[in-house]
Amino acid sequence: MSSAVPRPAGPFVPAGTVRIFDTTLRDGEQAPGAGLTAAEKLDVARQLARLKVDVIEAGFPAASPGDFEAVRRIAQETRGGIAVAALARCKDGDPQRAIEAIKVAERPHLHVFIATSDIHLKHKLRIDRETALAEAVRWVRHGREQLGRDAEIEFSAEDASRTDLDFLLQIYEAVVEAGASTVNIPDTVGYAIPAEFGALVERVVRLVGEQATVSVHCHNDLGLATANTLAAVQAGARQVEVTINGLGERAGNASLEEVVMALRTRPTQFPDLGSGIVTEQLTAASRLVSYLTGFAVQPNKAIVGGNAFAHESGIHQDGVIKNPLTYEIMTPQSVGLSGSQLTIGKLSGRRGLQGKLKELGYDYEGDALDDIYRQAVALADLKKEVTDADLHALVEQRASEVPASVAIVGWNVTSSHGGHATGSVTLSVGGEDRAAEATGNGPVNALFAAVDQTLQPVLGWHPTLTEYEIKAVTAGEDAQGQVLVRCRRSSDEGPGALVVTGHGLSTNIIEASLEAYLVAVNKLHGAEINGVAVAFVAPRSSESAP
Ligand code: KIV
Ligand code: ZN
Repeated sequence: MSSAVPRPAGPFVPAGTVRIFDTTLRDGEQAPGAGLTAAEKLDVARQLARLKVDVIEAGFPAASPGDFEAVRRIAQETRGGIAVAALARCKDGDPQRAIEAIKVAERPHLHVFIATSDIHLKHKLRIDRETALAEAVRWVRHGREQLGRDAEIEFSAEDASRTDLDFLLQIYEAVVEAGASTVNIPDTVGYAIPAEFGALVERVVRLVGEQATVSVHCHNDLGLATANTLAAVQAGARQVEVTINGLGERAGNASLEEVVMALRTRPTQFPDLGSGIVTEQLTAASRLVSYLTGFAVQPNKAIVGGNAFAHESGIHQDGVIKNPLTYEIMTPQSVGLSGSQLTIGKLSGRRGLQGKLKELGYDYEGDALDDIYRQAVALADLKKEVTDADLHALVEQRASEVPASVAIVGWNVTSSHGGHATGSVTLSVGGEDRAAEATGNGPVNALFAAVDQTLQPVLGWHPTLTEYEIKAVTAGEDAQGQVLVRCRRSSDEGPGALVVTGHGLSTNIIEASLEAYLVAVNKLHGAEINGVAVAFVAPRSSESAP
């Protein structure tokens, strides 16, 4: 190592700890259609801080101005010992941009990567092994020089599990010599099998484990991401890269909640090892990520699925009533399910609501609590009872609030048998009221068409709806409807078009639909006027995609 390069102060993981590196906002957000605005990313980062993850990988700053801005804001805000990581290719411009975004963090964590398997080197990067090694060393050294000895510099060998072992070990040794404090072993295409992956991790730990933290990053293409991650921990890995709900490219990444609860539930398999995760925040984190990305959690998903703690058969119910240990290996409370369902009525107090929200993993006080209280009481006027699910939905709706330059003034719709409908809307656009009427094959279609006609002459585009989903928040005739839409601008139809989500919540599903449509309009408009509000701008090219 050249004398100008400071030696890293790490490895930084305390003994007995597995460092939880959450990449929901980077690899998770790469799932097609999971794009988040900068404000939404910040909301998720705050929830990850409540969960007490060790590292938040906030994004890929060189990918777009929106992602740069989101990473910078998360780096600026995140405190309490949580590191903020940014991803960069080993390519001129990327690491500089990543460093610029994270240098304000309390604990900056630079994550540089380059592909190392022959298949990637030959067909994607079109470079030889020597060049890949030289670039890896160059950018690790650059990061160490720029960020100093106390920062984390992580190097990932993309497609490590399909890389020639001798070359892989050579590159890890070289980057550690150049100043890397973490070396990551990605199973990029989810190809590894647990025993094989554990053996690979053991080799790397033997080689560089004294000087650097060994990390793993597993994809789920064969459904083995969690199993591979746990095998790696048993083999000596002390950082795991995971996402909430297992969100991620293709079949996703190892799921944070599965890995963390396995470590906690099976201590004899992971002697003297644990994570610092506040597991009671897992359900709130799962719901928020699912809500904002529009990716539903399958009911039978481990830990956070709707049925994860439901017991249907008589034999199981009988056992659980006699002793929950018969069929439950962890308690619902330990992952943040409150257990009680009946909640707020018209006469419930503000303090009662605050306590209930706390049980559900949300910490609200002051104006924000007053606001939710007003909404809950208004809802209690419309519904017999306000349940946990309603409260989750009210809180989640707050997460999708966006600055509104387009707002609903009024609407009307008539619809009859045979599918014909006529809708009229009045919208306030930039403070000026504008109205239009349109027909459609149903009430929502007619109202959306009226919105389109109102906006087209003013904005030069209207939203194009690409997806519409509606679900009832609870059972019962008075349930609230929660609507999700995905839209892009009609003037932006290309393959890299910006697609945003919008949510609406109301006991009136037409109102909820219109609300969701306008949230999407305001996001698209916001992205257009300031150019940086939305993190996800275009799919990464195959050359740049990690
Ligand atoms: O899957 C992968 O290889 C990655 C790396 C950038 C860590 O996401
Ligand atoms: Zn990945």
